[in-house]
Amino acid sequence: QSRPLVDPFGRSITYLRVSVTDRCDFRCVYCMAEDMTFLPRKDLLTLEELDRLCSAFVRRGVRKLRITGGEPLVRRDIMTLFRNLSRHLASGALEELTLTTNGSQLAKYAAELADCGVRRVNVSIDTLDADKFKAITRRGDLATVLKGVDAARAAGMQVKINAVALKGVNEDEVERMVDWAHAGGMDMTFIEVMPLGDIEPARFDQYWPLRDLKARLAQTYALEDIPYRTGGPARYVRAKETGGRIGFITPLTHNFCESCNRVRVTCTGTLYMCLGQEDAADLRAPLRASESDEPLDAAIAAAIARKPKGHDFIIDRDTSRPAVGRHMSVTGG
Ligand code: GTP
Ligand code: 5AD
Ligand code: SF4
Repeated sequence: QSRPLVDPFGRSITYLRVSVTDRCDFRCVYCMAEDMTFLPRKDLLTLEELDRLCSAFVRRGVRKLRITGGEPLVRRDIMTLFRNLSRHLASGALEELTLTTNGSQLAKYAAELADCGVRRVNVSIDTLDADKFKAITRRGDLATVLKGVDAARAAGMQVKINAVALKGVNEDEVERMVDWAHAGGMDMTFIEVMPLGDIEPARFDQYWPLRDLKARLAQTYALEDIPYRTGGPARYVRAKETGGRIGFITPLTHNFCESCNRVRVTCTGTLYMCLGQEDAADLRAPLRASESDEPLDAAIAAAIARKPKGHDFIIDRDTSRPAVGRHMSVTGG
């Protein structure tokens, strides 16, 4: 075990998000364009390389690994990566191995994921209305995703539902979503829409500050602040009526950069030190440069030394350009 990674602002990097593919079987309107050009498969890190990369971070003190995409479960043979990474759980080096998924393939993989030591899974569901679900995801089928959620619960995994708060889209059903999630023993988390990728004007109209959403929920539920934390950016409350947790991820209205503990790496080995900044470091070249991990370790250390203080997200109709040009599907959030 070598020295832990600490950035220039004294923040320890203990959480790595790994996007294993830029592909997805959905095309959520706020995440992707309808017509996306995906990376050629040859540019992707192999599963062995992804393992080496994750392991290098684990050696440097990363305790939480989240596999993302695109949609991680559409990557061919992805269970091999989970299986191999689970050795770090067994050794105690890693506290949590988990994933964020759209749920489309979850019914197929839930049991195997649980068997690999995945105890929690985050599933993105922005609406419980089948037609709206189709409109938001352009290709998704709600019933299939709900079956995936059931399979994950049946396999003993704790499920967190993620919904991007979209004004005029899922505004009318946040209570229904909370009730449904809590009835199933699941956490319900809302996310402020972030300006990444090409932004159509509709994005501004759909931005729903979570302080407003929270005020609205407070009319139905008695909300109690709770200290529950997962190592992610959400702040949680408990709804007294249901006993369940509601999380709020508020990059715009209540920035959480000060306590940031994460970096993310893409499926081509590009390390982004912040979701809301363009600065990145290439880890693929050092990874491939040598069989020894020395160049990789040096590149990781150099990158962490450049981690910016925070993001530059603003949602402003007059700003013609998003702070970050890449799509969310590249870094998986
Ligand atoms: P937990 O382990 O359950 O806390 O998960 P998480 O919230 O860390 O991960 P998840 O993949 O569920 O992410 C939920 C949302 O949080 C996504 O929209 C991410 O883009 C967003 N998010 C995660 N980390 C960051 C971050 O460092 N900055 C910003 N701005 N958003 C983030
Ligand atoms: N802003 C906020 N959340 C987003 N997600 C995808 N794109 C955006 C965006 N622009 C969400 C997905 C998923 C999580 C990983 O990120 O819905 O829940
Ligand atoms: Fe796919 Fe997730 Fe992006 Fe939707 S938000 S298109 S499910 S990667």
